[in-house]
Amino acid sequence: MTLDIQNVTKRFGELKALDDVSISIANGSLVCFLGPSGCGKTTLLRVVAGLELHDQGKLVLDGQDLSLVPARNRNFGVVFQSYSLFPNMTIAANVAYGLECRNWPRKEIALRVEEMLSLVHLNDQARKYPHQLSGGQQQRIALARALAPKPAVLLLDEPLSALDAKVREELRVEIRMLQQRLGITTIMVTHDQEEALTMADNVVVMRDGRVMQSGTPMELYRRPSNRFVAEFIGWMNIVPADMGLPFPENGRPAGSHPLVLGIRPEDIQLLAEQDALCLLQATVDQVTRLGNLTRVRLRISENGASSREVRIMAEIQGMGEGLEVGMNRCISVAGESVRVLEWR
Ligand SMILES: Nc1ncnc2c1ncn2[C@@H]1O[C@H](COP(=O)(O)OP(=O)(O)OP(=O)(O)O)[C@@H](O)[C@H]1O
Ligand SMILES: [Mg+2]
Repeated sequence: MTLDIQNVTKRFGELKALDDVSISIANGSLVCFLGPSGCGKTTLLRVVAGLELHDQGKLVLDGQDLSLVPARNRNFGVVFQSYSLFPNMTIAANVAYGLECRNWPRKEIALRVEEMLSLVHLNDQARKYPHQLSGGQQQRIALARALAPKPAVLLLDEPLSALDAKVREELRVEIRMLQQRLGITTIMVTHDQEEALTMADNVVVMRDGRVMQSGTPMELYRRPSNRFVAEFIGWMNIVPADMGLPFPENGRPAGSHPLVLGIRPEDIQLLAEQDALCLLQATVDQVTRLGNLTRVRLRISENGASSREVRIMAEIQGMGEGLEVGMNRCISVAGESVRVLEWR
């Protein structure tokens, strides 16, 4: 199923929770809505699910306008952050619930529940109640329950955020494998960039109800178009555009926002002071040796009328022999690794 979100706006009183949001979600793909708290991720998911009515714009599922389809007829499977299983029903009854609502025949329900429980590797838990399961197990049941009625689209709102780090990592892999195996179009909300980068085919970065950029994890990391995305995904050094670094003309955003340059820490080379490739002089402020990798914090000072100071982080392979706090180094960077960014 292909889902098109077209120019969707949603207001709560004065607040624009969604501001002209357009996203196209390809059949069978997993898309993450990523952004800080309050940026509108849950609101957008609820609009898609039909649990919240938008003020403007359109939702189109495989060519069909969803505006007139009420939530219960959209056939979307939803999993929320908090465990939303019915506490007074067994695991099997929880998974069967949506099928009973849809008047599936008894025999088929029993078969489907069995199939779903084995999909999430919890057949042996069918007779238990939710409180007898761990958080991770409960979320897997919530997933089985959402998938049981063969939904057109799967919607997940921070399904892993209440779990501890190890379970979260296991479930990331499990959900992604399951999603790919079933080929089900899926939207997952998260504020965890690592989760988005490891799981998604496409990531939509949001801020204040607006889409800042969307693309594959690789595109967002290598070719962010603005400062917000650059700094939200990984670490990005931000340098004023007139400090003497090569300014790539291609890839310059067309908008009217002021521009800065972005350089990833791993793209910076540190050279001896007199090196011919020297672009900027800098002073080493801090050296953190992590074994295979060394993080170096540097300070670029400019003694002009403006006397600016810019802080830079470089990551170099290995133990960084000979690097000491206080020494002067030369910064060099290949032109193609410098990214022109909109300041916003
Ligand atoms: N029912 C509501 N009534 C009024 N304002 C709301 C309502 N629901 C959400 N908001 C506001 O809309 C904005 C977006 O909220 P939303 O829950 O979509 O954010 P979010 O990105 O999911 O954040 P989080 O990561 O904290 O879950 C927030 O400012 C929130 O306070
Ligand atoms: Mg939310």
